[in-house]
Amino acid sequence: MTRKVTKAIFPVAGLGTRFLPATKSIPKEILCLVDRPLIQYAIDEAREAGIEEYIFVTSRGKGALEDYFDGAPQLERALEEKGKLDLLKVLNHSTMGSGEIAYVRQRDALGLGHAVLCADRLVGNEPFAVILTDDVIDAEKPCLKQMMDAHEETGGNIVAAMEVPPSKASAYGLLDVKDNIGPLVSVKGMVEKPKPEDAPSNLAVIGRYILTPGVMNNLRTQAPGAGGEIQLTDAIAKEIKKSDNVYGLRFDGQRYDCGSKAGFLQATVAFGLARGDLRDEFLEYLIEMLETQKAAQ
Ligand code: UTP
Repeated sequence: MTRKVTKAIFPVAGLGTRFLPATKSIPKEILCLVDRPLIQYAIDEAREAGIEEYIFVTSRGKGALEDYFDGAPQLERALEEKGKLDLLKVLNHSTMGSGEIAYVRQRDALGLGHAVLCADRLVGNEPFAVILTDDVIDAEKPCLKQMMDAHEETGGNIVAAMEVPPSKASAYGLLDVKDNIGPLVSVKGMVEKPKPEDAPSNLAVIGRYILTPGVMNNLRTQAPGAGGEIQLTDAIAKEIKKSDNVYGLRFDGQRYDCGSKAGFLQATVAFGLARGDLRDEFLEYLIEMLETQKAAQ
């Protein structure tokens, strides 16, 4: 029987340079889609997938993240007194229980693989999930839950995979596919940000992983790879050679790359339109805006 995955690592120690100057003083993960920070989407997805322990790999200047998950007694009291119970519920939803969250520091941004390795002692010898908050996935069944089911079925490492346009493939880790097994693909190789001529496919890995202790073990001796960073992809690729138990899951859902400005704007529009309380007014504005833009062309 495969061991239940109850721990998730959230690497949030990157510099977030694409969102400067905002990220000079605000962690990227606190940026909001409508009124919820990116990190809240990630936590909700993890909880729905059965995660019980949340491990944040942070860095200097991420204090606002810790405050976000804390209780806010003054605010709670004010909302209670004013009878704003709906808002109180929203507020409570963002508060994490004592001991549910652990923080570990990555001193230097040496890469995603290094960030994951920083959580080694907290994870221990068990399978774990990794969630990149930049990737927000709108799905009926949460993407990580889909991956948990695939992990239970295979007992293997599962990475979330999606086709990307060939012109953009070199920005991702790409899978070298062995076999297609329904939405799952068995993988015979994996390469981070290859040159276009070296791309094994345009099936890209995005920011959700369920990994076995073997991958953490590989990270302990992982040398820097693409971009001079210690790459998680390289440690997973090593595991393919050692144990041949890595799968990509073509998940059901719409992924937004909120680490890029264009992706963040697209997600803002999509999540704004999905909100019953905003949709009509927002849609009317968008239509008007598009008509004006078209007329001006
Ligand atoms: P990115 O490649 O998006 O880097 O990292 P970034 O620093 O967040 O953003 P840009 O590119 O400068 O705008 C992908 C994920 O890995 C984490 C980031 O926090 C992000 O969630 N990461 C990356 C770390 O935690 N540590 C690192 O050393 C590198």
